Amino acid sequence: IDISTLRASTKGLITLDRGFKNTGSCESGITFLNGEEGILRYRGYSIEELADKASFLEVAYLLIFGELPTKSELDKFYADIKSESNVDEEMKKILDGFPKSAHPMGVVSSLTSALIAFNPSSVNVDSKEEMYNAIIKLLAKFPVICAWALRKRTGQPLDYGDNNLGYVENVLKMMFKKPNQDYDVDPVIASALNKLLILHADHEQNCSTSTVRIVGSSHAGLFASISAGISALWGPLHGGANQAVIEMLEGIKEDGGDTKKYMAKAKDKEDPFRLMGFGHRVYKNFDPRAKIIKKSADEVLGNLGVEDPILDIAKGLEKEALEDDYFVKRKLYPNVDFYSGIIYRALGIPTDMFTVMFALGRLPGWIAQWREMRLKKEPIGRPRQVYVGENHRSFKELDNR
Ligand code: ACO
Repeated sequence: IDISTLRASTKGLITLDRGFKNTGSCESGITFLNGEEGILRYRGYSIEELADKASFLEVAYLLIFGELPTKSELDKFYADIKSESNVDEEMKKILDGFPKSAHPMGVVSSLTSALIAFNPSSVNVDSKEEMYNAIIKLLAKFPVICAWALRKRTGQPLDYGDNNLGYVENVLKMMFKKPNQDYDVDPVIASALNKLLILHADHEQNCSTSTVRIVGSSHAGLFASISAGISALWGPLHGGANQAVIEMLEGIKEDGGDTKKYMAKAKDKEDPFRLMGFGHRVYKNFDPRAKIIKKSADEVLGNLGVEDPILDIAKGLEKEALEDDYFVKRKLYPNVDFYSGIIYRALGIPTDMFTVMFALGRLPGWIAQWREMRLKKEPIGRPRQVYVGENHRSFKELDNR
């Protein structure tokens, strides 16, 4: 039965599913997620194994092209990325126009969109080769933009990367190298960042990924679609939660560390406060990424010799929530972002850059989903609505209103 026959036979009946809680928007072969059992797999590989054994670039290749790369495929992939890592000098002027106080997510989203003007060919993706080139350009230039956003914020001169380093190591150097000083990448930090980026790399049809797909479905180019995805990720109910979690934990600490008081606020329906980093649309058992991250936070802080009192507050809140009827009944568990901010903090990344780090990790997932959508020739995304407004009314002239 085709859709127009179905519409005619249902007399315009429309499914209303606020927040798309149970509506599939596509068929996808990228990420498998079972929220009841806490299972997450990229292209069939478990998140636990990938986070433990793979490099972020291998995972990016896997997500985008469907298979783990061979050594030579990986070498070529990275060589192609390195050859595109220049960002037009004119882009620096655009960055210059932002106030130093601008939120880095706004800066990164704008600069990703601005990249189109300097790479107009990236919009043409009719052939696989054109599509590959657009993908490589973005994987190459996006970390530069993210690093520039941080350097602008911290008043450091802008720089390009060091192509002798690995992808993740290069990100760190681009972000943290001070002028006239050497920067040796700390392997503990690089390994922690590698893991965090992998854990964030894809998560099927979440808010930002659905945004990337729906914008891309109009055949707006890859960069425009990703720029829109970055804006979607910015919100505190989505990627912005990692910043919100740290701000919340700091607030609790400054307020004397009384976690019970904040548990009560979170449960009070008259109070808009929510326990940030708790709950998930799909995971109703536990978020497997949160388990890995919690362990990693302990390791990173231990290895770097960092003592962070807000880690204790986080653990206290988690323990209380796991024993609390309100949270248990609603199946609210810590999500990936409950502990990620603590690690980013230990790595020296400023709080308002946390969501940018998330975007950096999510980039290959967004690209993979966009590519799948284009290759499958998905139709333009266009949900319906149930109209609940006024019925037909006659226009009243201004003087008669
Ligand atoms: N604190 C207190 N109560 C909560 C929380 C929370 N963090 N999350 C959900 N609830 C309650 C709701 O008030 C609601 O209660 P009710 O049934 O009595 O009305 C119930 O749990 C269900 O919550 P919904 O908002 O309907 O669940 P939804 O699936 O729409 O939202 C979301 C999921 C947005 C993640 C939500 O749990 C939330 O706001 N969490 C805090 C923000 C956060 O951590 N976001 C990151 C998500 S992960 C990511 O994007 C990477």
